[in-house]
Amino acid sequence: SVKIYRWRQSRVLSVWPFLLFLCCLAHTVSGQIRYTIPEELKKGSLIGNVAQDLGLDVQRLRSGRARIVTRQSVQYTELKTDKGILVVNERIDREQLCGDVTPCSFSFEVILENPMELHRVTVEILDINDNAPVFRKDEIKFEISESATLGSRFLLPSAEDADVGSNGLQKYILTTNDIFGLKQHSSPDGRKYAEMILQKPLDRESEPRMSLKLIAVDGGTPHRSGTVNIDITVLDANDNPPIFNQTLYRATVSENALKSTYITTVNASDADSGSNGLVTYRFSNMREQLAEVFDLDEITGVITLTGQVDYEKDKKHEIMIEATDQGGLTDSSKVLIEIVDVNDNAPVINVMSFSSPVPEDSAPGTTVAIINVIDADSEQNGQIMCSTDSSLPFKIKSTLTNYYALVTDSAFDREVVPEYNITVRATDSGSPPLSSTTILRLRISDVNDNAPVFEKSSYVSHLPENNSPGISIFSVKARDHDWNQNARISYFLEETQINGSPTSSYVSINSETGAIHAVRSFDYEQIKQLQLVVKAQDGGSPPLSSNVSVKIMIQDQNDNPPQVLYPVQTGGSLVAEMVPRSADVGYLVTKVVAVDVDSGQNAWLSYKLQKATDRALFEVGLQNGEIRTIRQVTDKDAVKQRLTVIVEDNGQPSRSATVIVNVAVADSFPEVLSEFTDFPHDKEYNDNLTFYLVLALAVVSFLFITCLVVIISVKIYRWRQSRVLYHSSLPVIPYYPPRYSDTLGTGTLPHVYNYEVCRTTDSRRSDCKFGGAGSQNVLIMDPSSTGTMQRIIINMPSTGNQKWHFYCLSFYMCVLYDAFTSSCSYCSSLTFIFTAF
Ligand SMILES: *[C@@H]1O[C@H](CO)[C@@H](O)[C@H](O)[C@H]1NC(C)=O
Ligand SMILES: *[C@@H]1O[C@H](CO)[C@@H](O)[C@H](O)[C@H]1NC(C)=O
Ligand SMILES: *[C@@H]1O[C@H](CO)[C@@H](O)[C@H](O)[C@H]1NC(C)=O
Ligand SMILES: *[C@@H]1O[C@H](CO)[C@@H](O)[C@H](O)[C@H]1NC(C)=O
Repeated sequence: SVKIYRWRQSRVLSVWPFLLFLCCLAHTVSGQIRYTIPEELKKGSLIGNVAQDLGLDVQRLRSGRARIVTRQSVQYTELKTDKGILVVNERIDREQLCGDVTPCSFSFEVILENPMELHRVTVEILDINDNAPVFRKDEIKFEISESATLGSRFLLPSAEDADVGSNGLQKYILTTNDIFGLKQHSSPDGRKYAEMILQKPLDRESEPRMSLKLIAVDGGTPHRSGTVNIDITVLDANDNPPIFNQTLYRATVSENALKSTYITTVNASDADSGSNGLVTYRFSNMREQLAEVFDLDEITGVITLTGQVDYEKDKKHEIMIEATDQGGLTDSSKVLIEIVDVNDNAPVINVMSFSSPVPEDSAPGTTVAIINVIDADSEQNGQIMCSTDSSLPFKIKSTLTNYYALVTDSAFDREVVPEYNITVRATDSGSPPLSSTTILRLRISDVNDNAPVFEKSSYVSHLPENNSPGISIFSVKARDHDWNQNARISYFLEETQINGSPTSSYVSINSETGAIHAVRSFDYEQIKQLQLVVKAQDGGSPPLSSNVSVKIMIQDQNDNPPQVLYPVQTGGSLVAEMVPRSADVGYLVTKVVAVDVDSGQNAWLSYKLQKATDRALFEVGLQNGEIRTIRQVTDKDAVKQRLTVIVEDNGQPSRSATVIVNVAVADSFPEVLSEFTDFPHDKEYNDNLTFYLVLALAVVSFLFITCLVVIISVKIYRWRQSRVLYHSSLPVIPYYPPRYSDTLGTGTLPHVYNYEVCRTTDSRRSDCKFGGAGSQNVLIMDPSSTGTMQRIIINMPSTGNQKWHFYCLSFYMCVLYDAFTSSCSYCSSLTFIFTAF
């Protein structure tokens, strides 16, 4: 259109000389009219009533053949002569006709002939807003870096509007946005243009492209406008760091997972593009050990397992990760890798305290041990059940979490079970469950709860008599089921009396061994049995004891030879049994009576004739000891018969005693005496007798001398006084001239024999009622108790010394007697002395 416009302009200029010529002609005629019409009227539109305006009538016009003369090539107007009006003939475009020139008009002449008249008509074309502002391009492109500074200007293309005046371009409008502002300028030639100004920072990442419209608006009514698109591409700058899409990545991995197990992927995005947005990942600040456990792929952000994870060591790993773009911007985040527990740990039992031994009298419920059980696994895998053998008297009590007390469930008896092996088992609740056990060896310590018990309820032991003192008789033994000191048994004798003397004087007991020893030698004949109580006492505190009765039976031994009671065998006596010559066969001469203080077999006596003057005359009853004649006594038989009877007991070995039985076969006593004078004496020295005689002699001698002195003094005194002697009757000391002489002849001294005949009331008693023990110089004629027996006992001191002592004693006694009775028997005394010597 611009070209067209120029082209029109040039056409107008070329028409100019011709128009000037016409003006010269018309002036001569007169008349000039001016019309103003808007452009772009339709063909035939009325411009003006020329006839009227010129003051001509239509006739004239017709007659004058009025016509329009113009220099323009285009005939814009037409004169309607019949009506005298001027109408638009051709479209009138002001912009074509005049371009920018204002006001825009064209002129032409109306020529009339007859007369020639020339009228100038000027038609002014008024502009109408028929042109919109126009941009030369539809679209303009900008590439702006996002780092562009605020206030940067960007020149925009200007628009053109063919219209003029107010219909021409008035202003620019930029579609609303908050980033760019618009500033309008007018160039010196009046053209309007605009600049875009950056008001807010660009962000490629939020708006990488912008599409704006620049609108050019004219001032016509209505407005017309033209638009151009502004296409803005925001160029990237590395202004965005990479950003992880999560601040924390959670992942789990089971503790026994294999290597290269996928764990998780981290992802950071960088809003920048190109290399500015290329992100690489790495772990930051990671502990060295963990570097071998986890791997982070630099490009993909995939984390995998490369080592071993152990829940028990670390329940989770918190690892810092970092993403870096090529521009060096970074972001960091965390990865929390939780290790999932697998039941790979058995419970661990720790015995915190354990008291062993425990006393057997501990009450049920006593705590024996405190156990701590730890399972490194968690939750179900770490939930522990603790148990112990139900067969043992223990149970487990849970006191605190993971702490268990092992308590006793019933009473103990060390004597039955001295120790327990307690198995404590801890099991977790994992699947499969793992368990572990520990064995506690609990010893039960002893309490003195058992008294010693003797092996037998009573003891009977036998001890042969005549034991050597100190001999061990036997042992009692007691057992104590307790232990050690509580079972250390000591034995004691309970203090009792046996025959009035304390037990301990008979037996003693070894307190250690329980061996009972005899303290003395026992004589069965004195004591037949010992009844003791032995006490066994243990060493506990307090001690316990028990008793047992012990009976020690003294066993007889053949330690006593038979004792012949009859006939009595005393040292100096001589007994003879009288057998009348008239005695028949079977005449009971006498009976040997013997006893044995032993008992039983040992006291079972048998009698045998050992020697006899005439074996054919007598026999001895084996059992009863009766001596009987076995044939008729004849006159030829000697008066003096001597039988040796041996009495044997039945002991092993047997003991025996012999007794000599003198038998006088005679009818009268004198006959007997004559025969028996030479009876030999089986004499034994009796030291004791000698001793007592000497002692008595010494005492009596002393008394005698003392008395003698006193008496002599008194007598002399009395003699001087009165010279009178008192006489009184003296007791008669029987004196018999010696009839028997001492045939043993141990001494050379002559002997005096005293003899007396006496009757004993008891044949077993041999002591005579006359005189003292020492003065048995008697001859006893005794018809036996049976009445048929007679016997003669002749006793005399056996040795010369004893005789002498005896005589002295007798002498002294006489003297003393005389002295005390104040009698004068000096003569008799002297007779004694002289006889003795
Ligand atoms: C990262 O995350 C974004 C969106 O969050 C996604 O479009 C992209 O594919 C992810 N990248 C990877 C490597 O998964
Ligand atoms: C982040 O990226 C990872 C990897 O692509 C994806 O699995 C995860 O869902 C993303 N997280 C969010 C919140 O988009
Ligand atoms: C307990 O165990 C020990 C050693 O294993 C063993 O010597 C002892 O005899 C056991 N005791 C019991 C009562 O089983
Ligand atoms: C043992 O015997 C004594 C006396 O004989 C008596 O006091 C005591 O009670 C007895 N002890 C026992 C345990 O029988």
